[in-house]
This record gives sequence, structure tokens and C-alpha cells, in this order.
Amino acid sequence: MEQYAIKGGNPLVGDVEIGGAKNAALPILAASVMTDETVYIDNMPDVRDTNVVLNAMQDIGVSIKRAERHKVVVNGGNIHSLVVNGEGVKKIRASYYFLGALLGKYKQAEVVLPGGCDIGMRAIDQHLKGFRALGAEVNIEYGLIKAKAEKLVGSHIYMDVSSVGATINVMMAAAMAEGSSTIENAAKEPHVVDVANFLNSMGANIKGAGTDVIRIKGVPVLHGTEYTIIPDQIEAGTFMMAAAVTKGDITVKNVIPKHLESITAKLLEIGCEVEEADDCVRVVASKPLKSTQIKTLPYPGYPTDMQPQITVALALASGTSIVTESIFENRFKYVDELTKMGANIKVEGNTAIITGVDNYTGASISSPDLRAGAALVLAALAAEGVSLVDEIKYIERGYEDFHLKLRGLGAQIDLVETEKDIRKFRLKTS
Ligand code: EPU
Repeated sequence: MEQYAIKGGNPLVGDVEIGGAKNAALPILAASVMTDETVYIDNMPDVRDTNVVLNAMQDIGVSIKRAERHKVVVNGGNIHSLVVNGEGVKKIRASYYFLGALLGKYKQAEVVLPGGCDIGMRAIDQHLKGFRALGAEVNIEYGLIKAKAEKLVGSHIYMDVSSVGATINVMMAAAMAEGSSTIENAAKEPHVVDVANFLNSMGANIKGAGTDVIRIKGVPVLHGTEYTIIPDQIEAGTFMMAAAVTKGDITVKNVIPKHLESITAKLLEIGCEVEEADDCVRVVASKPLKSTQIKTLPYPGYPTDMQPQITVALALASGTSIVTESIFENRFKYVDELTKMGANIKVEGNTAIITGVDNYTGASISSPDLRAGAALVLAALAAEGVSLVDEIKYIERGYEDFHLKLRGLGAQIDLVETEKDIRKFRLKTS
């Protein structure tokens, strides 16, 4: 099984290019089948989750061409099945976006119940409530979510919680409903806006994405488009945090600094310098880190997907920090692994109380999920000695060439598979 071998202790320095946003790419891929015409998508991240979705699209008859590594050409004109139920899609969250997309276009869809990182309950009641409000009959049978409508009719939908997935899913279906829909208490994340922009570029009529009220006038058909996905806020934030954790100096390029404001604010608070330019952000961590308090919140608050990474930084800061996770109830599982590296963190319910230590030491650790896995890699990069990080398949779900990008910043990190590889790595880095 592949693992990362990491020799920590040196500051990461240099430039890194950020790819397209995974959590925008996944619904955009699903939405691209809502027209029979050809759709050209640029800045597509080449990560495991997007590739699972591309395979699922091929399984139902969508033609996919990868013009370049980050450019895909999609044509959904010959779809022969409205059942999305492959082995791959069972394991990811975003499979549920085929419900909104296929229900919108064909008024019918059957999609396997979604998987995804094990970070909490992850209900889908708001998705189903939205589809039902639009006139669909929705049932869960034999592990499939089945949705069907004679016709979809615009409706007023109030989301009980701010949900990225439910907002996007219902927006997709409503884009092809008859009449007008309003989604209240909509999620405001940049990827929600990106999907709305993508649908509008296909001829949809969606206004207000990025605010908590989205208004949609349904249209009968959508047409082909060319579209470039926004940069990944969380990949960018992870590299910003890598500078803080390793006392480095990293310029994160090809980003939208506005999307990073909550992360930038916290980095400034803990003693880093942050310089913003049009499409890049430089983080310099030349002073000792200071403690702070953080609560994860929907956008524009501090993102839950950046919670493990900042916890790794705060565990090296002077004083006591408090991190409260308010989105997912089970997102501190990585703390046990971090403790093996010397961190002093006590978790009580959805709160972590962190007493800073001077340094981490290398250990064999395991990624419990995507973002926590990336955070543990950052810890290993700061640690004295060699660490082995396994279950990196989680990290590969959402970070393209993670170890290569880190190596470009001076990290000593290799993909290893055998005891011999590990011995070689230890020798090389001793
Ligand atoms: N929720 C409900 N009912 C619903 C939907 C959500 O109660 O019908 C609750 C959830 O249980 C959670 C909260 O609402 O407590 C927010 O969930 P949301 O629906 O926003 O999350 P998601 O769509 O399942 C996406 C990302 C996650 C990211 C969250 C929050 C994708 C594929 N996943 O999940 O990304 O953490 O939004 O921003 O877009 C990741 O990339 O590592 C990741 C986990």
C-alpha cells in the first residue's frame, strides 16, 4: 500500500500553483450533462473524485474526452441510463449531484446513496425536501435514491440548514423546472456561485448565488458552453497553512484572494504575514505562532475543510487555543494521530482545546479523511525526523500531485510502497 515518507523540519519556501476547485468541479461535471450540446470545461482538477464522476458519466452514456490534463470535453446527448450506481460513486459524496442534474433534464433519476469522508452524519433531507417541493416523488429503495416527476414546477424552498450540496442540487433541478423558484437560506460558498455561473453560461436564469436567497427562472433547454472552474479555496488554504506550520514563505498562485479572507484573517491573528496581489497570496511565518480561537462556519466564515490544517498550526503555537467545529460532528478523529507526534490536544464534544508544544516528532500515522490527511502531512513536514503517512488514497481524492507540489517547495517527501523504499528514503534523508 502506498504511503508518504516525510522527513520534516525544513521550512517550505517558494511558489505553488493552485488547481481548479474540486467541490465546484464535481457538480459542474454533473450539470454538464443537462444539455445535449458539447460542453468544454477548463481547470478541471485531476483528482480521484473528479475521475470517479467522469467514469460514472461514461457509464450512463456521456461522451468524455480529456483534451488536456485539465480540459475535458463533455457531451450528454446520448445518455442511455438514468441510474447512477457504480462501485466508485458509492464511495463519494458528489454522486448525489446526478439527482439534481438528471431530474432537471429528464425528470427522473436513480442514484446510489452517497458515501464520502466519514466526518459526521451528513444527512440529505434538505436535498430531498427541495426535489419534493419542485414536484418530484422521491423514495429511498434498495440503497438507491429514486426521484421522478411528471413535470417539475418552480417553488419556494427554505433550507433548514445552510447546505452546499442541497443548495446546488436543488438549484440544478430548478434551472429546468417550469416557472420560478426561490431558495432561501442558501449556501453562499464560492463553489455554489461557480455552479450558478456555469449553469447561466448554458442558458439558465439564476440570480443571487453568493447571497442567501437564490432566484431561479426555469428554462426548457440548456445549451453548450465553455467554462473555466474557479481555483480551489481549500487547496490554496492548505498551502497557506503549510507556510505557517513549517515556518516557511510560500506564494500561493492562481487563487482568488477574496475566497481566502477568513483563512488570511486567522493567519494574521496567529502571527504570520500575508501579502495579497491580484491572483496570488504570499504567507511568511518568520515569528513564533500565537494562539487563537476559531469556530468553523458556512462561508464567509472559517471553512470546516480548513479546520484540521489550522489545528495542526495551533498545536505549535504558544498558549492555549480553542477550535470549535460547528458543521460536522465527527471531524476531530485525526487528533489521536497528531497526539502520536507530540501534540497536546483535548477534544470535548465539538471543541478542541489545544495547548501549544514546541515541536512535533516523526511517527507512523494514518489519514482518517481527506482534509485531516493533508493536515497530518503538514504536521509531518514540521516534525523532527521521519514520518510515514498511510491511507493517502483519501488525500488523493482532493489534492492533485500533493507530494510533488510540496516537493517543489523544498519538502522531503516520497511515495513509498515497500520496506525497501522506506529504508532508501531514510538513508537518502539522514
Ligand atoms: N445537512 C443536513 N441536511 C442536508 C444536507 C446537509 O442536515 O440535507 C447538514 C450536514 O449534516 C452538515 C451541514 O448541513 O452538518 C453542511 O453540509 P453540506 O451539505 O454543506 O455539506 P456537503 O454538501 O455534504 C460539501 C463538501 C464538503 C464540505 C461541506 C461544507 C462536496 C462534495 N463536499 O459537503 O467537502 O466540508 O460541503 O462546506 O462539495 C471536502 O472537500 O473534504 C469535504 C468534506
